[in-house]
Amino acid sequence: MMCLAAACREGPHSSSVATRPSPTVSTPAAVAHDDHSYSNPNEIRVRHADLDWDVLFDRKILCGRATLTLERPPAGHATRLVLDTRDLDVEKVEASRDGSSWTDAPFSLAPPDKILGSALAITLAQDATRVRISYATRPQASGLQWLDPPQTAGRKDLFLFTQSEAIHGRSWIPLQDSPQVRITYRARVRTPKNLMAVMSANNDPKAAPDGDYEFEMPQPIPSYLIALAVGDVSFAPISPRAGIWAEPPIVGKAAREFADLEAMIRAAEELFGPYRWDRYDVLVLPPSFPFGGMENPRLTFATPTVLAGDKSLVALVAHELAHSWAGNLVTNATWRDFWLNEGFTVYLERRIVERVFGQRRAEMEAVLGLQDLEKEIAALPDRDEILHADLRGRDPDDGFTDVPYEKGALFLCHLEQAFGREIFDRFLRGYFDHFAFQSITTEDFLRYLHANLLDSNPRPAARVPVEEWVEEPGIPAGAPRPTSEAFARVEAEVTRWLERKVPASGLSASGWSTQEWLHFLRALPPSLGHEKMDELDSAFHLTDSGNSEISNQWLLRAIAHRYEPAYPRLEQFLTSMGRRKFLKPLYEELVKTPDGKNRALAIYRTARPTYHPIAVATVDKIVGWPG
Ligand code: BES
Ligand code: ZN
Repeated sequence: MMCLAAACREGPHSSSVATRPSPTVSTPAAVAHDDHSYSNPNEIRVRHADLDWDVLFDRKILCGRATLTLERPPAGHATRLVLDTRDLDVEKVEASRDGSSWTDAPFSLAPPDKILGSALAITLAQDATRVRISYATRPQASGLQWLDPPQTAGRKDLFLFTQSEAIHGRSWIPLQDSPQVRITYRARVRTPKNLMAVMSANNDPKAAPDGDYEFEMPQPIPSYLIALAVGDVSFAPISPRAGIWAEPPIVGKAAREFADLEAMIRAAEELFGPYRWDRYDVLVLPPSFPFGGMENPRLTFATPTVLAGDKSLVALVAHELAHSWAGNLVTNATWRDFWLNEGFTVYLERRIVERVFGQRRAEMEAVLGLQDLEKEIAALPDRDEILHADLRGRDPDDGFTDVPYEKGALFLCHLEQAFGREIFDRFLRGYFDHFAFQSITTEDFLRYLHANLLDSNPRPAARVPVEEWVEEPGIPAGAPRPTSEAFARVEAEVTRWLERKVPASGLSASGWSTQEWLHFLRALPPSLGHEKMDELDSAFHLTDSGNSEISNQWLLRAIAHRYEPAYPRLEQFLTSMGRRKFLKPLYEELVKTPDGKNRALAIYRTARPTYHPIAVATVDKIVGWPG
């Protein structure tokens, strides 16, 4: 339904944020071909966005305007601007030469492509420098989730949050939705009076909710990092520059869990150079957030399923923080280059974990990561095992596997191993400085790698098959193999128990960390038998675990063993959170048998309306919805 500008623009708050030119930034000269954007940044480039929205919970729409500041290359006279959109109702497009007088600009919205959405083509005068789009989102926007009060911790207020990566930004802002286009932004957001709004921008920890908010993001960022959340959230400081936003019932717990935030930022700065984004806050979202975390600049979005009570899952925050260097500062130019974001980030994450929580913990996490990778690779077709991925004709969300993450990180470990930490760390710091605030392709990285590491150190370089790592499937033969002594002890306990040398209650598991439990559960043989499941459960109460990672691992086994005592917990787990990392394997395990599939469908029928559109798309495919 079209949003009538007048209807959402009445009242005293109708003035829009003043437009202003964006700062100049150096970008790589070449424009990369992006299979996932219709936009034409080679002809005209958006540099800055002034955003102005009313958040209309009753209609589940954002309604407002995006005013874009444009730049053409020297001697460029393009008169056609192409933007990405999905499910947007575009009411009016105007253009301006100076930002003060506006004239209607002809536009056309192409028929939608299932993956890419609809190209919005706008005809402009050669000297137009601004374009203003009045539009509304639709309730089904893939990048927005509108929550009813029962889906929140407080259970009394509405909540809205965005998720733009990879190409969902276009479902709530008409933009050149390609990660090689970096923009600054300002935003003005009107919400119901009692709710707070926060963005991937300059949030004020002291702001009181009054329903009218202004934001500025002065550093140029790609569109997938624009983020907004609206709800009853309050703030708890961790340090002068870091803190937690969360709903009041959980903000205290979250602040205790993430008490080491400042220590993590310091560790990261020591390793990779200054934190360049001013504040670093974490917003803990309601449980339907479909990811573990999202590195929205200055304001990481995180799932509440990491609040284990013992800080054991905080590597997730180390990961999102590490994106402040890998991903947000140096960004993948296209989704083919996604491994540059995630592989680097996993590597940095483990370095931060090592500094703050010790080598033992970092090693365990590296081994768990390798296990994930090996399992995933065993199931994936060759073409999906390549870091420099070919995602033509596919949804970039399909590229979200352990390959860019763990294979990417392992590649960097291999370089670290070959050249030594000192040299490799110096290289990494140089890399972040050199490409700061730029979006780069895999080829740009490889060129830099050769010029600044490989070519000057031919002996160690000969040990790392760079081309094979980046362009071929599988894991190269000489790859490092992370190991963990702690895990070797866990394996010894597994053997003792399986050989019936001790009962479960006699296992020396009392001091085990979450990671050791995960390794234990993964190390068990596929078929254990009901009796042994029962024995473990009686000894360690795994069905009742409140640790989401342990629950996930245990429930997978429970499904495979038809271990009925865990079914109520399984149902409760699947209906109380919407994190795709847990939903996907659990539903996949369920649909392997006919009665499991019925159980899956019964649970999904209840849970589906509470899941995020991104999670729904994943689970629909697994269970064959609508049945
Ligand atoms: N940037 C990703 C999340 C993402 C990637 C969203 C691609 C959409 C498309 C984020 O940094 C991430 O990797 N999150 C992980 C957690 C991490 C600890 C591996 C997740 O959500 O599972
Ligand atoms: Zn990540």
